Amino acid sequence: MAVALIVAAGSGERLGAGRPKAWVELRGRPLLAWSLDAISRAPSVTRVIVAMPPGHPDAGAALGDGGDGSLDFVDGGTSRSESVRRALHALGRDDAELVLVHDAARPLLSTALAEAVIAALEADSGADAAIAASPVTDTIKRAGRDGGAVRETLDRSELWSVQTPQVFRRPALERALDVDPQTLARATDDAWLIEQAGGRVIVVPSPVENIKVTTPFDLRLAAMLLAERGDDAPGNPA
Ligand code: C5P
Repeated sequence: MAVALIVAAGSGERLGAGRPKAWVELRGRPLLAWSLDAISRAPSVTRVIVAMPPGHPDAGAALGDGGDGSLDFVDGGTSRSESVRRALHALGRDDAELVLVHDAARPLLSTALAEAVIAALEADSGADAAIAASPVTDTIKRAGRDGGAVRETLDRSELWSVQTPQVFRRPALERALDVDPQTLARATDDAWLIEQAGGRVIVVPSPVENIKVTTPFDLRLAAMLLAERGDDAPGNPA
């Protein structure tokens, strides 16, 4: 069994929609609603906490509150991992051993993928975290921030493009998040914090369809993929 934390407190500036990304409309619903539905349908998930942009007290009214205390909203922080930390804090004394973290920016999440990542961690007692990722298909080179001369070409056969959901053993995640705000701000995912603390993270192959919506192009692509899925019911296997 697991609790789920959805981080939705980003500003979404690169989307240029003039409002937080979580509220941007995707096939007639807030972007956040898609992954919230998929996670809420996961049989292993007992409770969901969503980190929202501060100043949106009406989240429960717009998205439903589960009616049974199984869904809560908290204000997010100034960095992604700070938002995770706040949501985890709001969990209080819940006795769930596993914590699933998901970016609201990935609306194509399926219930099947959430369950698969939870099952992978449950099956590996030596792992602290299991993360969804898909194999890299582009050739990846290291160069300067603005381009310029290539310094290195990486071995593609060992590279993974990391997504969410990421599932953690709760004590390991709590320890990993107990760092200074600068370190939290450097983390582009929470698994990195586990790695920094010497923990073991395993990769669970995941469909490339589980895209992150960052730009207007991504939003168009997400709408097309959801339409192709054939219905408006998130949660079907991807
Ligand atoms: O900025 P990035 O694309 O890495 O954000 C990934 C996820 O983290 C998004 O779902 C975003 O809403 C969330 N986030 C957050 N709090 C922040 C920054 C980002 O919850 N301060």
